[in-house]
Amino acid sequence: DKGTYPFYMLKEVDEQPAVMRKIVQNYLNEDGDPVVDSQLLESIKEADRIYIIGAGTSYHAGLVGAKMFEQLTNIPTEVHISSEFAYEQPIMSKKPFFIFLTQSGETADSREVLVNVKKQGWPSLTITNVPKSTLSREADYTMLLHAGPEIAVASTKAYTAQVAVEAVLAKAIGEYLKHPRAAEFDLKHQLGLVAVGMQALVDSKEKLESVASRYLSKPRNAFYIGRGTDWSVALESALKLKEISYVQAEGFASGELKHGTIALIESQTPVIGIITQDRTAGLTRSNLQEVISRGASVITIVTKHLAQTDDTIVLPDVDPLLTPLLSVVPAQLLAYYTSLGKGLDVDKPRNLAKSVTVQ
Ligand code: M6R
Repeated sequence: DKGTYPFYMLKEVDEQPAVMRKIVQNYLNEDGDPVVDSQLLESIKEADRIYIIGAGTSYHAGLVGAKMFEQLTNIPTEVHISSEFAYEQPIMSKKPFFIFLTQSGETADSREVLVNVKKQGWPSLTITNVPKSTLSREADYTMLLHAGPEIAVASTKAYTAQVAVEAVLAKAIGEYLKHPRAAEFDLKHQLGLVAVGMQALVDSKEKLESVASRYLSKPRNAFYIGRGTDWSVALESALKLKEISYVQAEGFASGELKHGTIALIESQTPVIGIITQDRTAGLTRSNLQEVISRGASVITIVTKHLAQTDDTIVLPDVDPLLTPLLSVVPAQLLAYYTSLGKGLDVDKPRNLAKSVTVQ
């Protein structure tokens, strides 16, 4: 039931702070240590490489998670689109471990990969929102998202829940392997900060609604840019905007713009820059200057300690591994208000189904 909300999507965006708290309750004990199946940890400990598989938003959550696994566990991690991996399996490491990310647990492309993975005898975990879903039943292990039912076709709280659960698992494996960075990573405290930060962002709806109406209501195309983790969020942000508002949106690695795509920038083309990482902030800022000088309308989503006076949306500071949990929220709301402003059916965009059960 969507209660007083006009659309499920808005309700689900608003639920994200509560989902973060629920993940803390379910997966972190009093001392902040992860509570994760020890057999699962033992199985991943044996692995020489983690393969994350997903489609759409779940693939984007995988991109963010891969950095956490590499930094907190030191296990090399690759992320693959399920429909590609199913038919173009790369040369594999000797001891792969597979993580399937899927809100519904029913996505046909991901199921196809799991069937092949099982034939080859490799271990697997499904991270899903739906207990007893097909991918949950067929994998060796399951971790639930605890996000509650997600009804809107555009995935929002499942994405942030996937990122948070990946953080739990990365910390758990890292601690199991005695990797120093994992012990230092105070995830319980950080997810608390994230929940508070998300609340502040969902409370700034009016501002986001006016930014959407001013910059995104008319143009036919838009670009999200960022580097590293911010690029991963740019991909997800662009997917949100295109699927519900029908603006042709693309997520780009900021450094790639000048290698071709910058040719598309015209007067008032919206370019949204995501800046949350110290190492790349200055570089993305110069890439934004390049598009400003070609007439683009620039919107910035910037983490507090990197913010400048004219930035559009400022995010509270959290651990650099977790900034996607905050930077994605304004992007979700910009997509929502752009769709709403056009009078579209936000929850049921044309041509799309909530769960894609064909290949
Ligand atoms: O249920 P899944 O997470 O496996 O679904 C994967 C994609 O179909 C899904 O994320 C899709 O891209 C969403 N509509 C994005 O908002």
